[in-house]
Amino acid sequence: MRNAICKYVSLTCVLIVLIHSGETRMRVEKVTEPFGLSEGPHWNHRTQKLYFVDIYNQYIRRLDTATGVVTSAYVGHGPVSVVVPVDDTSDKLVAGSGKDLILVTWEGDEDSKKVPFKVLTSIESSSSDTRVNDGKVDSSGRFWIGTMGNEKLNGDVTPNQGSLYRIDDTLKPKKEITPVTISNGLAWNIDDNTFYYIDSPTRQIAAYDYDPNTGTISNKRIVFDLNKINIEGVPDGMTIDTDGNLWIAVYGGHHVIHVNPKTQKLLKKVKIPAENVTSVAFGGPLLDILYVTTAGHNLTAEQRKKTPYAGSVFAVKGLGVRGILANSFVMNEKQSDEEKSDE
Ligand SMILES: *[C@@H]1O[C@H](CO)[C@@H](O)[C@H](O)[C@H]1NC(C)=O
Ligand SMILES: *[C@@H]1O[C@H](CO)[C@@H](O)[C@H](O)[C@H]1NC(C)=O
Repeated sequence: MRNAICKYVSLTCVLIVLIHSGETRMRVEKVTEPFGLSEGPHWNHRTQKLYFVDIYNQYIRRLDTATGVVTSAYVGHGPVSVVVPVDDTSDKLVAGSGKDLILVTWEGDEDSKKVPFKVLTSIESSSSDTRVNDGKVDSSGRFWIGTMGNEKLNGDVTPNQGSLYRIDDTLKPKKEITPVTISNGLAWNIDDNTFYYIDSPTRQIAAYDYDPNTGTISNKRIVFDLNKINIEGVPDGMTIDTDGNLWIAVYGGHHVIHVNPKTQKLLKKVKIPAENVTSVAFGGPLLDILYVTTAGHNLTAEQRKKTPYAGSVFAVKGLGVRGILANSFVMNEKQSDEEKSDE
């Protein structure tokens, strides 16, 4: 019986892949209005909703892809860089905000003008000139989250102020990679033995051996170098498909690039109607839609006219590949229960 189901399911998948690679053409659709610095897309497969953040406006946003409705929760604790649901809950989210990892209580169907939250841990000391940035949860429920130097008004970031941390259910941040300048894209392959990582200004994609049991990384090597292809901008957020190939948002590059880290070859460039492409995540019932966030903050009226879509979320359909389910953060019950608002 079980075998029969497996056969049926994989046959369905094969058919779907065939239909997608054969008959559908790739298309890019705008799926939200423009916000500020949209980042950190996370697909919640259980609820079929796309979470993302609006960093400097300090919002967690949620797109219902079935209706197109976006609901928003204002945090008010400093820039909000990433958000991930807590495992086995329907209204708890962990987010990076300011220098901290916070636990937010938000059911998500309605806007919240000031969402209740509590600080779980401080990732960087209060004296550091840094803030949290991109993050993702591994297969064991640990949160990997990086930091970066604070942006100056001209957009410059002081080099080597940030790090990448790993936070398990003890909530003690452990430094894994240091120093980094702008900690960004993270991805694990489907075999769960390789970790990919981006420190944006290097314009390179690094790979590490990954041990899922201990959560340790080792043996750094460079698997792709944007200096070797004809593209402007820097690599930002990243995801991976079931074939083991990477999808990388290029900030300042108008594109998402598709890269084979084994051959170090560029497979495809997907043009996005916004200059500053910030991150990517697969979603949709079949995990075959690539959701893409872009930046539209600090624009002059003239720039806004020229790039009306900057800051929107886009959906790229018909790529003929599928993503891997995103993980939720695993907390021990006691920590998530003692709910206390910092309002
Ligand atoms: C962008 O604008 C926000 C306010 O919306 C401000 O806090 C931030 O400092 C500005 N950033 C830059 C790089 O100008
Ligand atoms: C893209 O980012 C750069 C650097 O932060 C900025 O100067 C530029 O105005 C941005 N463009 C758009 C359309 O947001």
